[in-house]
Amino acid sequence: MKLNKYFVIDFDSTFTKVEAFDVLAEISLKDHPELESRKKQIAQITNQGMDGSISLRESLERRLNLLAPSRQHLSPLVAKLKDSVSESFKRNKEFFEKYSDNIYIISNGFREFIEPIVADFHIKSENVLANEFRFDGEGRVIGFDTENPLSENNGKVEQLRRLNLPGDVYVIGDGYTDYEIKHAGLANKFFAFTENVARESVKSKADHITPSLDEFLYLNKLNTAISYPKNRINVLLLENVHPVAQELLKAEGFNVETYHAALTEDELCERIKNVSVLGIRSKTQVTAKVLEHANRLMTIGAFCIGTNQVDLKAATKKGVAVFNAPFSNTRSVVELAVAEMIMLMRNIVDKSAKMHKGEWDKSAKGSFEVRGKKLGLIGYGNIGTQLSVLAESLGMKVMYYDTEERLSLGNAVKCKTMKEVLENADVISMHVDGRASNTNLIGEKEFALMKKGVIFINLSRGHVVDIRALRENVLSGKVAGCAIDVFPYEPVSNDEEFQSDLRGLPNTILTPHIGGSTLEAQENIGNFVPNKIMEYINTGSTSNSVNFPNLTLPILDNAHRLIHLHDNVPGILAKINQILAAHGINIVGQYLKTNESIGYVITDINKEYDKEVIKELRAIENTIKFRVLY
Ligand code: NAI
Repeated sequence: MKLNKYFVIDFDSTFTKVEAFDVLAEISLKDHPELESRKKQIAQITNQGMDGSISLRESLERRLNLLAPSRQHLSPLVAKLKDSVSESFKRNKEFFEKYSDNIYIISNGFREFIEPIVADFHIKSENVLANEFRFDGEGRVIGFDTENPLSENNGKVEQLRRLNLPGDVYVIGDGYTDYEIKHAGLANKFFAFTENVARESVKSKADHITPSLDEFLYLNKLNTAISYPKNRINVLLLENVHPVAQELLKAEGFNVETYHAALTEDELCERIKNVSVLGIRSKTQVTAKVLEHANRLMTIGAFCIGTNQVDLKAATKKGVAVFNAPFSNTRSVVELAVAEMIMLMRNIVDKSAKMHKGEWDKSAKGSFEVRGKKLGLIGYGNIGTQLSVLAESLGMKVMYYDTEERLSLGNAVKCKTMKEVLENADVISMHVDGRASNTNLIGEKEFALMKKGVIFINLSRGHVVDIRALRENVLSGKVAGCAIDVFPYEPVSNDEEFQSDLRGLPNTILTPHIGGSTLEAQENIGNFVPNKIMEYINTGSTSNSVNFPNLTLPILDNAHRLIHLHDNVPGILAKINQILAAHGINIVGQYLKTNESIGYVITDINKEYDKEVIKELRAIENTIKFRVLY
């Protein structure tokens, strides 16, 4: 393809993620007793070369002396380097193929290992500008071609001068020597490439900072392998979500910011404006007002189970897909419930508190085994069912009530009404979800139905229990003990005092919403939610979304994907297909799913099409969001 632009690309830490000499050291000095000390010396010499205290030639000579490479080391080196090509280069192979005449690789490294790597990307041998080794008869490296300008200081500049490229020159690299080409007037623009290494001194000189090749191609309106550079997708993770989430999202190329606490509504209204992906836990309230300000928001990841902190209706209307981690911390909640019912049946909390004050109160009064007792579960979902299994293995008799039809596990007995559970159980444990209609599900009337001496546990959601009624029933002795982990109002951060009518009650375990807070659960969640988010962004898949129709989509293969989200009104699919037919577009695959409020239509089409079609699809009435993915 004819183009009046030339792309001059650095090799070490730009084309590849690594410095080739570092990799070479691991190979050529593999069994050498001085491996570590030589590696240190090599790094020192590299720095001296960079800060100008020794010449490039001296630095090359001294490093090669230490590395003692030979021909036999080249093929393992090449193999390693092939595995280390920068991610954004790998996904943009098409760019290299299309513009191969216009792409130059420039390096103070060596042709012998650079050429085989870049050849896979259709880069011509004559477009590789690098040093060359000199070998002796036994294949040992004994030096390099000293006539080559790249073995000298300012070599990149001199090389470019000799090339005398007849058009605009764009240099991409991570080092100061790459910037020098622009400084010498031999390039129109210098792009600091920061995907692998970001050097402040280089960034400050750049015309543009490009965290990936996608960004470079996007800025220059060149063909890109993906529809939008990922580094332009801003991710905001609040409330200390597990670092693994940050790692996964960063590795994907997103621009990730984190904050240790929740934000207030007003703070979030401001921060959300340029955020595409919001990650929260249970504290951050994503209200309709917040969503009004969220014009770039594509998806919310709730790094927890409940999603009632998000106004799901408003999110759906705005076209924001919400994901959560429905079972990543199930086991943790269940283990705590088991532990608490045993502790409460034995009055351990008060006994332990007394011991700390020096009181020895040995007695079996009011202490029971859980074996043989009736456990009543209200809500038989992920947590309820798991607890059912563990409690049975402790010898408890399980009865449950759920508004939905659920499969009874083991010997658990399903009850037709909640009343039946409340009247018969020795231990009552709440595991309903946080829907608004569950507010005060357990109040004065329900406590009145319970057996005297019941143990009551709520690890579900705070608003499910009327706290005043609970307090009175604990004080009266009707409830012999309770464990409460969730509260109608919970402090926004650890700095805020916890205020509750439950403070100071006997045989009462209060915990700060930590039922699911184990390191295992946090890590499970930290892995689960980002994968859902990335799948949604990369493929449009909505499997496990709590508010979007669930569609699991195939990976895009040599096609463009049109993702159309609309109000669920009749005739939209027909309109989409009319527009596609009018433009003679061949549909490769089409998927549709609706829920009560929205419709989600995915159409895969051939890559060549009239771009006018996009405008028309976007303009269909009742469209909520539209995006093209490739
Ligand atoms: P789930 O959605 O799998 O199960 C909830 C079950 O409750 C469903 O089967 C539903 O049909 C049932 N249900 C809803 N309203 C009901 C009602 N009024 N009466 C009877 N059944 C009703 O949810 P999962 O994963 O079991 O979680 C349960 C609760 O635990 C949720 O509220 C969740 O937010 C909370 N949770 C709390 C944690 C903590 O740290 N304390 C950690 C994880 C979850």
